[in-house]
Amino acid sequence: AEERASLKTRIKTLMKEQDAVLVAHYYTSADLQDLAEETGGCVSDSLEMARFGHAHPARTLTVAGVKFMGETAKILNPEKRVLMPDLGAECSLDLACPADEFTAFCDAHPDRLSVVYANTSAEVKARADWVVTSGIAVKIVKYLHQQGHKLLWAPDRHLGEYVRRVSGADMILWQGSCVVHEAFKAEALKSLHAAHPAAAVLVHPESPESVIALADIVGSTTQLIEAVRTLPNPEFIVATDNGIFHKMHAAAPGKTLIEAPTAGEGATCVSCAHCPWMAMNGLRKLAAVLESAAVGKRSANEIHVEESVGQRARRSIQKMLDFAA
Ligand code: 13P
Ligand code: SF4
Repeated sequence: AEERASLKTRIKTLMKEQDAVLVAHYYTSADLQDLAEETGGCVSDSLEMARFGHAHPARTLTVAGVKFMGETAKILNPEKRVLMPDLGAECSLDLACPADEFTAFCDAHPDRLSVVYANTSAEVKARADWVVTSGIAVKIVKYLHQQGHKLLWAPDRHLGEYVRRVSGADMILWQGSCVVHEAFKAEALKSLHAAHPAAAVLVHPESPESVIALADIVGSTTQLIEAVRTLPNPEFIVATDNGIFHKMHAAAPGKTLIEAPTAGEGATCVSCAHCPWMAMNGLRKLAAVLESAAVGKRSANEIHVEESVGQRARRSIQKMLDFAA
């Protein structure tokens, strides 16, 4: 605990010296989330992370999350320096959608608009017509459907299936998935819910259709936290990365939070409701990157996006931000 406290103090000093602000996702460690809040940064879902970095005056954005979040921050703020605790923090959705394959997918369907999830590389966003996050995907796809467009969707097939079902849009889906949400199991969730009948079931839409079918609320991380705060239920079964429990406990201290099962009885899970890439972020690495990036030095952990790619990707992300405004 003493080491954590002194690390936090050192990080705060370094952030001031470097005019840096910390933007963290709800799936990162409690320490990082607390530090972001204590220092005037933000803890949020992917949509709000993009918005916050853009609006904040700091010259350096430090992004605790995964690579696509750092890239989005850089795309929207090419004049700022964007640092991450670990550039190896990937995402199975981003990895499942290489830019050349995505380009071929679009080229094969020239009559369709392409909508990609924020969990993609800068190059994929540059090729896409629209970028969406889980918090706004349904609204944007409904709008495009009403405008008469047929769509391509990448890369998360579960989110894609969900959005297609609720919007009624004509969508061809890429077949990527999230290693964390893919592991939630419907049968085990049914048994757990039977043992906790007063609980509301909260599900992130990256989960399989059979799990979404059991949900009382389907939504982005921010929307699920809001549900814990506002619904009257004393208990919640939560199907998303368990990093979110830190904020949920703070939002509704008296309520009981239960992890949704990632495996049936006797079986083992691979990711166990926690993203291995989000877990690569930590206080020690954050301190190290800020030290390595001390004014005038070139940090190995800085995000770079090629200008022509950034310009095209910015156009599709900006459409989403304008739509959300
Ligand atoms: P949101 O926070 O936008 O719901 O995204 C979830 C996610 O998996 C980010 O990696
Ligand atoms: Fe990607 Fe899933 Fe990890 Fe989010 S939780 S970063 S979607 S692998």
